[in-house]
Amino acid sequence: MSTKLWGGRFTGKTDPLMEAFNASLPFDQRLWRVDIAGSQAYAQALVDSGLLTQSECKAIVDGLDEVVVEWAEGRFAVNAGDEDIHTANERRLAELIGTVAGKLHTGRSRNDQIATDIRLWLREEVDVLRGYLNGLITTLIERAEQEIDILMPGYTHLQPAQPVRWSHWLLNHAWAWQRDAERLVELRRRVNQLPLGAGALAGNPFNVDRAALAQALGFEGVTANSMDSVSDRDFIAEFLFWASLTMIHMSRLAEDLIIYSSREFGFVTLADAYSTGSSIMPQKKNPDSMELLRGKSGRVFGDLSGLLMTLKGLPATYNKDLQEDKEPLFDAVDTLSSSLQIATGVLSTLTVNAQRMAQSLVPEMLATDLAEYLVRKGIPFRETHHVAGTAVRLSEQSGLPLTKLTVAQLQSLHPAFGEDVLSVWDYERSVDARDAEGGTSRRAVLAQIGRLRQWLATN
Ligand code: ARG
Repeated sequence: MSTKLWGGRFTGKTDPLMEAFNASLPFDQRLWRVDIAGSQAYAQALVDSGLLTQSECKAIVDGLDEVVVEWAEGRFAVNAGDEDIHTANERRLAELIGTVAGKLHTGRSRNDQIATDIRLWLREEVDVLRGYLNGLITTLIERAEQEIDILMPGYTHLQPAQPVRWSHWLLNHAWAWQRDAERLVELRRRVNQLPLGAGALAGNPFNVDRAALAQALGFEGVTANSMDSVSDRDFIAEFLFWASLTMIHMSRLAEDLIIYSSREFGFVTLADAYSTGSSIMPQKKNPDSMELLRGKSGRVFGDLSGLLMTLKGLPATYNKDLQEDKEPLFDAVDTLSSSLQIATGVLSTLTVNAQRMAQSLVPEMLATDLAEYLVRKGIPFRETHHVAGTAVRLSEQSGLPLTKLTVAQLQSLHPAFGEDVLSVWDYERSVDARDAEGGTSRRAVLAQIGRLRQWLATN
């Protein structure tokens, strides 16, 4: 008899290269724990269906406990013939407890088994990633609170636009990750559905109690269609999209910090712990952590597009193509796990050079405020925008900073200018004028922090 679990109808030998090509154990062994948890719950379900006696079930569950210990202690000996994590665990169980092990797979297929394993595994990882995301958001909130008084230039098109609070910039990234956190919670519900009991594709002939299985394994519900159950990988695609979008946010943060930490900007200094030197230029301190975050976003998009290509055009139901779902998933989980922690480390250790930020605030950034001054005197904005633009031109022509134009010069541009126009030339005042919800005033930023904290406390 062939030693392969499916060996019955085969007579010829498998090409050794095919053997390796087909094997998923090298990467799916990280599912060992959830694979065994699923089998132990399934053994109990077989008892409830009258297919296993209590003592047979106990033998299987205890045997699997031993297999757990072997994996946990790094003692599990992989056999050349072990094709995947399911066959490896079952082979080892049979060695430990004998032929009764052969009853475990009754009514089950590796097709519903692998779908169950990935969902169990991903559910746990989602919770871990959610914790890292919360840590990252918390770091941003804390910094924003402590450094609320620091002002910096805000940019559009990477051109100096208007002054903002440094805290406001920090929180602009926090909100992107807050949405990512919400998305993660939402997709977790769809991950957390039990496919076990779908069999190979047509369902379970022994009437296993799937609701009880779901409860035992902590699933929120059972999948509704056995054919869909064994071929659905939407939850992985969804996760990979989540990972991609989260990495886009990561990459945009990285780009900001690479620019802000450059010598030309000098707004922030990354901690040595997250920078590296050059092997030839002794003066260099490079923002490698940020460049890697920006770079790693690309590989995660690759994970997503790779899986989408794999899924496209598959006929119903299980096809071996689906074995290609795991490596991109594992890669994305690992990349997100380290990226979220690195970003948290960078953000909690960088130093802000408030003085450099203040020196980079230039008078032109108050041109909008000049227009708004006239608006408050009742002049239509379109007109005041034009007047302020003329003032900028006048300052350029006369070589005087905008803020040094005399009241008389300004009055020559519009009669509504009065002595009080001098109060416009104040970056702090400009920032605090933007006090509507979501703005950069001190009050509005503190309100934002309150909103984020409230969300953190209830999620
Ligand atoms: N290693 C396989 C996978 O990852 C498990 C399912 C195998 N099913 C099968 N019918 N060969 O998809």
